[in-house]
Amino acid sequence: MVDATHTIANIFAGKFDGTHLGLRGWVQNIRAGGGILFLQFRDGTGIIQCTLKKDQMDPQEFEHLRNIPIESTVEISGLVRKDPRAPGGYEITGDKVSVLYQAEDGFPIAKKYHGPDFLLDNRHLWIRNPKMQTILRLRTRLLAEFRKWLVDHEYLEVQMPILVNAAVEGGSTLFEVKYFDQKAYLTQSWQLYAEAMIFGVGKIFTVAPSFRAEKSRTRRHLTEYWHLEVEEPWLNLDGLMRLEEELVSNAVQRTRELMPEELKLVGRNPDELKNVTPPFPRITYGEAVKLVQKSKPDFRWGTDLGWKEEKVLTENFDRPFFVTHYPKEVKAFYHMPDPDNSEVTLSADLLAPEGYGEITGGGQRIHELQQLLARIKEEGLKLEDYNWYVDLRRYGTAPHSGFGMGVERTLAWVCKLEHIRDAIPFPRLINRIFP
Ligand code: 4AD
Ligand code: MG
Repeated sequence: MVDATHTIANIFAGKFDGTHLGLRGWVQNIRAGGGILFLQFRDGTGIIQCTLKKDQMDPQEFEHLRNIPIESTVEISGLVRKDPRAPGGYEITGDKVSVLYQAEDGFPIAKKYHGPDFLLDNRHLWIRNPKMQTILRLRTRLLAEFRKWLVDHEYLEVQMPILVNAAVEGGSTLFEVKYFDQKAYLTQSWQLYAEAMIFGVGKIFTVAPSFRAEKSRTRRHLTEYWHLEVEEPWLNLDGLMRLEEELVSNAVQRTRELMPEELKLVGRNPDELKNVTPPFPRITYGEAVKLVQKSKPDFRWGTDLGWKEEKVLTENFDRPFFVTHYPKEVKAFYHMPDPDNSEVTLSADLLAPEGYGEITGGGQRIHELQQLLARIKEEGLKLEDYNWYVDLRRYGTAPHSGFGMGVERTLAWVCKLEHIRDAIPFPRLINRIFP
């Protein structure tokens, strides 16, 4: 039986230098050179090279292995050796390989260029690719760091319903589902429920799926994405931005320090993330419009910033930055109008540099009853859908703020990915819900 501590990750951590051990896993690739085989071996914690010499093992076994289809399931045994030239710093000199489950020939993903549609059709196999594996490890790290920071700062992790009865972020991106004889929707954000919770348990966060029936076919839209959301009583817009910049900087710096090799492997030079430190620059929506107008003179105040406009804005910054005080028209009903200028709201989006654009959206909420009722009316929303939410302004209201972060958008930026689809194992896109 293979010892469960015998993993490639532990070998790379230096725990088994000079140890003879056994490992179970898969043939990522195999290459023959004279009397020697170079087996790229994967165990789910990493990929290591195992060299096998014909004169040091059963010659029949050697010949069989030479033609073994990739992705066969094998058990190897051999001696762990330090080798500074090897990826991960270690190699295995193998002396035995048992084939547990031989794969069929013709693994669909060959070592050649495949178009994105082909790879998406074969996503269930493509996720074994080293870059995809590494992105997932970075995703785990980033999420763990977000969670750790929030828990350390006494935020409570709370889960909210996925099936809901009304829109948070406007009706145009709602997915409708049949709920017995009623209509229900897949949630766009936990926010309305989060606002109910904070008056009971104080500051809270969640990491949960959100859904958007986005007709957009861009590099940054998923229809199902993971949403990290935070809500906090007594927090104003300035406090919210300070919270976001601390949270994001901390997670990015920890990931940079702990996983530089992984970042390089996925195409991100870790040094490029060094300047992700607070404070992040802030500009108002009005200032943003002026910057956009330099290259798009007919862009009008009052229009939402799309990815094209955000891309232009990111050219002015070398680190994440906030755009604040968006007009009422482009933000959801719950955003608090600025007491100094009721045309704009106490809102802020955080935009990532290098063309990535919006990674968080949030702001201060309306906490005053009459103001909320007026906004619901103004937006033409059905009051009965929001009755319970309005109640929160009747019983124990207080100023509060919150934000939501797109986990995949953030990861795509940190990993410098070309497309958001690679930040999640099985992306849901406008034209894809398979596999
Ligand atoms: O800006 P949004 O729509 O804000 C809200 O949902 C607020 N209710 C959040 C809150 O205050 N609690 O969405 C928040 C973030 C965006 O900044 C973006 O990063 C991500 O969610 N997001 C998407 N990510 C991938 N695909 C999509 N279609 C996304 N739509 C939003
Ligand atoms: Mg937004």
